[in-house]
Parts: sequence; structure tokens; C-alpha cells
Amino acid sequence: MQLTEFNLDTCLIEFPGNQGNESWTIRDAVEGVQIFGGIGSGKTSGSGRMLALKYLAAGFGGLVLTVKADEREVWEDYCRKTGREKDLIIVEPGGKNTFNFLEYESNSISEKKSSAVNIVQVLKTVIRASEEKSGGKSDDPFWETALDMLISNIIDLCLLAYGTVSVRMLYDIAQSVPRKDRIETGEQKTKNPFDKAFVAAVENVTKQIAAYESGLTQAERERLYNNDSYDDELCNIIPDARTLKFVDQFFTESFLNLSEKTRSIIDFSFSGFLFSLLREPIFSLFCRYHSTFTPEDCLKGKIILIDLPVKFHHKVGRDSQILFKYVWQRAMEKRQVKDNGRPVFLWADEAQHFLHEYDPEYQATARSSRIATVYISQNLPNYLANMGGAKSEFRVKSFLGTLGTKIFHANADIETNKYASELIGDGLFEDKSETATAAGQFSASQTKSIKIQRIVRPEEFVRLRTGGSQNNFRVDGYLHVQGSTLKNGFNHLKIQFNQNFTN
Ligand SMILES: Nc1ncnc2c1ncn2[C@@H]1O[C@H](COP(=O)(O)OP(=O)(O)OP(=O)(O)O)[C@@H](O)[C@H]1O
Ligand SMILES: [Mg+2]
Repeated sequence: MQLTEFNLDTCLIEFPGNQGNESWTIRDAVEGVQIFGGIGSGKTSGSGRMLALKYLAAGFGGLVLTVKADEREVWEDYCRKTGREKDLIIVEPGGKNTFNFLEYESNSISEKKSSAVNIVQVLKTVIRASEEKSGGKSDDPFWETALDMLISNIIDLCLLAYGTVSVRMLYDIAQSVPRKDRIETGEQKTKNPFDKAFVAAVENVTKQIAAYESGLTQAERERLYNNDSYDDELCNIIPDARTLKFVDQFFTESFLNLSEKTRSIIDFSFSGFLFSLLREPIFSLFCRYHSTFTPEDCLKGKIILIDLPVKFHHKVGRDSQILFKYVWQRAMEKRQVKDNGRPVFLWADEAQHFLHEYDPEYQATARSSRIATVYISQNLPNYLANMGGAKSEFRVKSFLGTLGTKIFHANADIETNKYASELIGDGLFEDKSETATAAGQFSASQTKSIKIQRIVRPEEFVRLRTGGSQNNFRVDGYLHVQGSTLKNGFNHLKIQFNQNFTN
């Protein structure tokens, strides 16, 4: 039954516990879920499947990112089972659904300057996530700043010159920014896209200045011309003049004077990324046509599935899904829960592929925007490797702390099992040890003492059931809910998931 009113205390799932049924609510869902378990441990077909069916049945909207080729089919089946087929929007190569991210980011805010800031933010987050995953340089603050400045100045130049941005324009300009060697050899005889944009930008600003000056009286004009700070004053009155000054300074000084190696690395990161956006199928899906859907559709109950599985489309599939995920996350954060309380889910099986630097910050506020994140991954090292950088352990643990519910399935990874065991914590156990003495006569006594021990020892996770016919389709898992005490007096519960669960 789909809900029409969404109360956070509505029970989504009842888990049988030894002190009666434990109820897991919408509030728990929007505090986020992390599922860990080794390969074939039942993450997807056990706990994942049950959560997906419950979220769909309750009427959640959502975004599904894909890694494996069969995920689309699995979700089509989930939607059929819950009567949600009509809500499913599949974004696939050659399909009818397209989304133009530059157009979307430019239109979401009428201010030209803010739309530039938005676009810079999206591009740099995705480029950095992509660098991070390939073991890149994103821990180097210098590199980050230089890349941000390049992106930002190219976008500013494009907006000043043409009043709009497209991936093609950005790519062409990025390809032809002034370089010392080109200038010294006099190679640039004809006007390249950068020069053309620059001339158009200057024309635009000149026109604005002329229009402003024509509205002045003779006396005011003279006062301006004789003023030493004429330039500054103009820049205050005409913001585009200031932007043009910065753009000019950046390309003729700061960027030009970077060492050849640094400059080419930065250049290459940006151009390389734009180039990947210009290739099919990404170009047609995310850059070429108007949007047929937007992230906001999820607030009306739509489920957007990006069918560009990473296993098949590799880096391009991952980058474009991170891009959409990031745009989607920011849109969902802006929503007004008091006008529309429908929870939306962000679903990522094999989630390590889609992490980016903004995730922890976003996750911290996801609850108040009613975003029910479900991240599924084999183990902690997966996240450590993909959230690169020197401080990755700290980053990963603090990120996991922002996901309220964790489910641990069978796992042979020592680190994940230790983490799970520590999280569940310690308990008091009776320690029964027997002493036997045989000095002349036999005597046996039993002593009882209280001992503190891990409630679930790390090695216990190795033995959990993993589904399939040999286990009668049962998958075991430990559920841990942060901060809320269950009826059994603990934060955790051992649960059986049924792979044949049909809602
Ligand atoms: N619908 C199903 N019915 C019965 N058994 C299944 C079903 N789907 C998967 N299995 C089996 O159940 C086990 C768990 O599979 P599942 O795909 O859920 O694991 P997983 O934890 O998601 O693994 P991976 O990390 O490889 O994605 C496997 O042995 C699999 O062969
Ligand atoms: Mg799986």
C-alpha cells in the first residue's frame, strides 16, 4: 500500500525479536543505511531486496545508480511487484529520457553569476572524484585550487562572451588557452576559440560601459575620466567588467606562468573530462538535448535509474553517474519538507564506485531533507581505496557514522568484521571455568565470574548464512541502529532475510 502522508514514525519494516517485534521506521530509513557483506553474502538479494521493495511499496521516489548490467532488470522487477512501473524513468543509451545538466544548473538560478558558481561546483566535484579514484592528486591543495580556477575562469569567459555555456564551447576554449610556447613561437596566427571568446567578451563589456557612460552628464563623465580610480569605479558599477579583468589576469599571468608540467596536468584533467562528456552515449544523454526529466521528479514519486552500468561503461559510466548523483543530491537538499514530505532514496549497490568528497557533508543533512540513502558494498577497504587520500581511514569512518543503520552479512574481511564487532560493542558475560584437582582425592568445583567481552566476535561474521537453496533461501545479517535502543535493550539484532521475500 502506497502512503499518501509520510510520517517519520510510520513503521516500514517489522523485524521479529526475542522481546516482540522491533519496528524500523521511515525515520530510520532517512537516517541512511549501509550494507556490508562479502561477495555472494546476500546483500543484493537479501537485505537490499527487502529494503527496495519496502521503499517502493511505501511510495518513495528515488535515484538508482548501477554497476552491474542486470540491475535494471532487477529494479524493473521490483517496480512491477510493487505497482510502480509507471514511475520508473530509465536513462539509457538510445532511450527517450535525456537530462541536460548545464541547462539545468543554469536555469535553476536566474542570476548568471550564481549559475556559473553552480556549474563550477558540479564540474570540479566530478573531476576530483574521478581523479581520486584513479589514485590522483586531489590531496594536493595547490592542484585543487589551480583546477578550480581554470574551470571557473573558462566558464566566466564563456558566459561573458556568449551569455551561455555548452560542453563544446568549454572544451574548445580549454583546448586553446594561451600557452607560453605557442606565444613564443608565434604559432597562433589565426584566431582560435579562446581568442574569439575573449574578443566577444571584451565587446560585451565595452558595450555595457558605453551604455553606462552615455547615461552620464558631461560633468559626471569628466569627473570619472579624471579620477585615478576610474577602473575600480567602473568595476563596481559593472560587475562584468570586474569579471573580465580577473579572467584576463588569470590567462595572461597566473595560468601562463605555471610550470609547463603543472599547467598541462591541470589542462589535461579538465579537457579530458570535457572530452568524455562529448563522446557518445554521454553527450546525447546529458549534454545535447533538453531535459525530459529533472531530479525534482523524484519528489513526485518518480524513480530514476541510470542504466550506464560501471562494469560495462567503465569510467564514463561512473563519471556520468557521479555527475547526476551530485546534481540530484543538491536538488533534493533544496526541497521544502513542509510542502512535500515524500521520502526519496538514493540507491547505490557497489557504492564505492560513486563516492565523492561532498558525500559526508551531504549525508549529514540528508535526514532533514528526507533522503534515504542505501549504500551497499563488500567491505571497508573498498571505501578506503575509493575515498583516497592520506586521511582516508578517518574520512571513511566519519562518513559511515552518518549512516544510521548498518547491516552486516557474512564476510571474510577482517577489517570489516572488526569494525562490525566494535560497533556492536561489549557486553557482560558469565565466565564459567571449571577447576579440577586430583590431590589424593578427586574434587571438582565450578567458579563463576563476570567478564566483559565482545557481544559478537569478529569471526562470527564468517559463519553467517548466505542464501541460496542450500540455506533454504535465508540470508543472515546483523542489523545495527545507531542511537536507538531496541526492545531487546541493545542497538543490534540478528536477522534472517528471505530471498523469496515479495513484500
Ligand atoms: N533470487 C535468488 N534466489 C536464490 N538465490 C539467489 C538469488 N539471487 C542470488 N542468489 C544466491 O544467493 C547468494 C547471495 O547472492 P547476492 O547476489 O545477494 O550476493 P551479494 O552479497 O549481493 O554479492 P555481490 O557482492 O557479488 O554483489 C549467492 O549465492 C547467489 O547465487
Ligand atoms: Mg550484490
